[in-house]
Amino acid sequence: MSFATNNDDLARDRAHLVHPLHRPAAQTHAHEWVEGRGSILVDQSGREFIDALAGLWNVVVGHGRAELADAAAQQMKRLAFATSYAGSTNRPSIELAERLAALCYQNVNRFFFTSGGAESNESAFKTARYFWRVNGRPEKIKVIGRQWGYHGTTLAAMSATGIASYWPMFEPRVPGFLHIASPYPYRFQPPAGTKPDDPRSPGVMAADLLEEAILREGPETVAAFLGEPVQGAGGVIVPQDDYWPRIRQICDRYDVLLLADEVITGFGRTGQWFGLSRYGIEPDILSFAKGITSGYFPLGGIGISDRIAAAIDNASDDKTWMHAFTYSAHPVGCAVALANLDILEREGLVQRAGELGQRLLKGLKTLESHPHVGDVRGLGLMAAVELVADKKTKAEFPAAEKVGPRVHAATQERGMFTRLRGDVYNLAPPFTTSEATIDRMVEILGESIRAVLG
Ligand SMILES: Cc1ncc(COP(=O)(O)O)c(C=O)c1O
Repeated sequence: MSFATNNDDLARDRAHLVHPLHRPAAQTHAHEWVEGRGSILVDQSGREFIDALAGLWNVVVGHGRAELADAAAQQMKRLAFATSYAGSTNRPSIELAERLAALCYQNVNRFFFTSGGAESNESAFKTARYFWRVNGRPEKIKVIGRQWGYHGTTLAAMSATGIASYWPMFEPRVPGFLHIASPYPYRFQPPAGTKPDDPRSPGVMAADLLEEAILREGPETVAAFLGEPVQGAGGVIVPQDDYWPRIRQICDRYDVLLLADEVITGFGRTGQWFGLSRYGIEPDILSFAKGITSGYFPLGGIGISDRIAAAIDNASDDKTWMHAFTYSAHPVGCAVALANLDILEREGLVQRAGELGQRLLKGLKTLESHPHVGDVRGLGLMAAVELVADKKTKAEFPAAEKVGPRVHAATQERGMFTRLRGDVYNLAPPFTTSEATIDRMVEILGESIRAVLG
């Protein structure tokens, strides 16, 4: 299959670009994207594709929103950039932080802005270490993450990421980052040695792995637990309902900060403004990016609890929070974010994400009768279909069979584009996607699975 362009752009691309997760073979038939309209992406050959992943989970209000371009242009014309280092500020960032305080968890009222998700997670790790250090516990430095967690690819974010294929060529990882198993309802196995009459639910057992890890490492060495409310790039893993409340209890019991990576789940993706609300708990720090500007400008950040904000505010000069980026609180990014929040609120898109998600999941569930559809799952407008070689044993296809990539090729032939994790097909379209397009996505995926797997 080839969607090669008619010009020599791809040769020029290969001569001078290195892409994220670079693979030269992938560039020989790369799409050159030229236009976006709503939920549709257009490539250079003029073909239209349903943008089933809203860019990279981020274009939540859809493509082609002139309002966001206007917000950027106005801000650029007035003040494109000025430092926001201590001693300076700008109005868009003040307004954005104030607005986030109203939308976000009750205990989170202060914000630091970055340019994206990995920078946000780096900020969260450093702030967790800082918090314990100013509180006289400098040995609390470790961060516990989870298998299948994705947190970005800077060195510490990569070390926190629990998808092992990201590590080997960049070892050694940053010391002090470790992982526990994911709650992964489809595949979770009680740890070895669990008694058959153990009364705990799978969600509680999965959360208790955190307690075991903290005790093994020594609570006096653990700064934080890090998790996405719903694991995204790892294959839309929706935890059991009793998982997060138990995690919060364990964190509290051992003085471990709870870091929520809401880079995907923030700003409505799960049908609520932020992902942990559903579970009735609050994080100590949350990281966000992506949906805050719908990807129209690179912006991310962290929100910190009042307790952590007080620690930063009250520290003596020799304990200053020495963390900063040139583009922190970029006035253009903040102006775009404000306009993006206006759209989300005015058009009721967070609620719409929840409603559309139910329609998508209901549609995808009809594919479950296929002998190779092992699991269909989702929350809000993020969903995944996991293909397996054997439904009974849940055995995966050998990687060499390239089932996932072949299904992806088949969906592209039918006009839909996304990203997969192995043989897990992820779907997370813009919140503005029409009902008809949601139904078409289900149809395309069903046809493609049948085309590849019979
Ligand atoms: C949950 C999560 N955290 C962090 C990141 C990293 O964000 P970025 O690529 O902007 O550094 C991502 C990106 O997909 C993500 O999904």
